Amino acid sequence: MQNVPMRIRSLLICLLTFTASLSMLHGHGKWWKQELYLPPSSLLLHALRWCEGEGVALDLGCGVGNDTVFLVNQGWRVWAIDSHSKSLQLLNSRGDIEAPYRLTTLKCSLESLHWKKLPPAQLIVADHALAFCRPDRFMRIWRNLCNQLVVGGRFVGQFYGVNFRGLNGSSVVFLNCDQVISLFDDFEIEFFDEVEKDEWWTNSSFVHCHVFKVIARKKCRSFEFP
Ligand SMILES: C[S@@+](CC[C@H](N)C(=O)[O-])C[C@H]1O[C@@H](n2cnc3c(N)ncnc32)[C@H](O)[C@@H]1O
Repeated sequence: MQNVPMRIRSLLICLLTFTASLSMLHGHGKWWKQELYLPPSSLLLHALRWCEGEGVALDLGCGVGNDTVFLVNQGWRVWAIDSHSKSLQLLNSRGDIEAPYRLTTLKCSLESLHWKKLPPAQLIVADHALAFCRPDRFMRIWRNLCNQLVVGGRFVGQFYGVNFRGLNGSSVVFLNCDQVISLFDDFEIEFFDEVEKDEWWTNSSFVHCHVFKVIARKKCRSFEFP
C-alpha cells in the first residue's frame, strides 16, 4: 500500500469500506429474516405461568417482535421499543398481530428513552437486549427499568456473563454472577439460571454463550432519582 499513489489508495479504502458495509447489511438482513415468526422465548412463557392476568408490558429491544406479538395476542398492552428502524418495520408489517390496537412501537434507544412518558408496567421483558446498552449507561437504564415496574410486577430477561466470547467486548455489558444478583435487591428472584455453551447464532457467528436468565418479581418501591 505504501507505494500506491494517494488517490488510488483512497479509492481502494472507499471500495473496501463499501464492500464491508454491504456484507454487514446483508448479514443483518439475513438475521432479521431468520428471526421473524420464531416462537416467544421459553423464559417468557415460563414467567407468564406466574402472571395473574394481562396488563401493560414493555418489550425492551423487541427485535422483530416474537415476544411482543405473543403478548399482544394474549391480551397484554405492549410497548415495544427498539433502536433499530428495520426491526420495528418488520414488526409493524407482521400478519400475525391479532389486536394491533394493543401494540405501541417506539423507535428509540434505551439510553435516550423518556421513561416518564411510558405507563407503569406489570411486566418488563428484556430478551437478549440489556447487554447491548452502552456499558456506561447500563445502571441508569436499570434503575429506570426498576422504577417503571409496579410493585408485584415482573422482570424477565437475560444478562451476558463475563465468559461470553465472540461479541465485540467494548460495547457489550458483561456481568459476573454477583453483579447480576445485586441488581435484584428490590426483587424476589423466582427463577435464576446460568448457562454456558458454544453456539452458532442465526447471523452465522460462532459464540461461546455465557448467559444469566432471570425472572424476578418486584417487592418494594424503587428509589427516586433525578
Ligand atoms: C439480540 S436482539 C433481541 C431481539 C428480541 N428481544 C428477541 O429476543 O428476539 C437485540 C435487539 O436489541 C436492539 N437493541 C440493541 N441495543 C439497543 C439499545 N441500546 N436500545 C434499544 N434497542 C437496542 C437491537 O436493535 C435488536 O433488535
